[in-house]
Amino acid sequence: MDNRFIGVFDSGIGGLTSVSCIMDMFPNERILFFGDTARTPYGSKAPETIRRFTLQIGEFMKNKNVKMMVAACNTISSVSLDVLSDKYPGIPVIGTIEPTAHVVAKKCDPGEHIGILATKTTVATEMYPKSIKELKPDMENIYQKACPAFVPLIEEGIIDNPIMDQTIRYYLDDFIRENEIDTLVLACTHYPLIAPNLKRIYPGIRLINSSKETAVAVGMALEKYGMNADETQTHENTFYASDLSENFVDMIDLILKDEQDPGRIRFKNLDAISD
Ligand code: DGL
Repeated sequence: MDNRFIGVFDSGIGGLTSVSCIMDMFPNERILFFGDTARTPYGSKAPETIRRFTLQIGEFMKNKNVKMMVAACNTISSVSLDVLSDKYPGIPVIGTIEPTAHVVAKKCDPGEHIGILATKTTVATEMYPKSIKELKPDMENIYQKACPAFVPLIEEGIIDNPIMDQTIRYYLDDFIRENEIDTLVLACTHYPLIAPNLKRIYPGIRLINSSKETAVAVGMALEKYGMNADETQTHENTFYASDLSENFVDMIDLILKDEQDPGRIRFKNLDAISD
């Protein structure tokens, strides 16, 4: 039994989509979330910068005595998971890419055409194609598309909106047609928020959600390390952001609100992390 917090973090609000899945799957767990809203997006920043930011967040998480660190961010997972596991060998570190690649390898036939939608940084590392091919070498048709305008629009709450639909079409119409895509991997934790738009615009294309697969991996790690929380524990989640904007609070409401149990989300202080 381990009733400490699971530490979950992202460059911004996207990681809340993983938090939502973790809350649904493991209702006894306490979550401490940090969104680096003052410095989002990470996806167009240099890997060195992302590594520096990740170490700062890791230190914050360690000082909060989390039992596990979950990088609910594909960009961080693609460039800086190793800096965390090297610095904190005693704390399990979970990322988004490995669990999602496993699901792609498991669910998709070798002949299928897979589209990886991600930030510029994640695409540049080629971590997704490499990880999928390692698990399934005959999976040949893997295509990547960086969609850098999605994150700022989502952070602004421009989701159920014609501007978002147009942006999706701008990035994906040709990409999907030319590469005959069957499955889209939402390889950025912000993108599940536009899954309804994608389903509506491209019905029939299968979506694989990295936020959900990360939550599944958290469950496996809880078992593996004997870290499950006590079943009688009450819900108590805490959210931090480096910039507490109205958007952040609105997004917590939008993504995590539980109509049946509004007390499930508990706010606490929201701090800035400085250099
Ligand atoms: N949500 C993040 C990801 O999964 C990063 C978005 C960004 O900061 O660019 O990649």
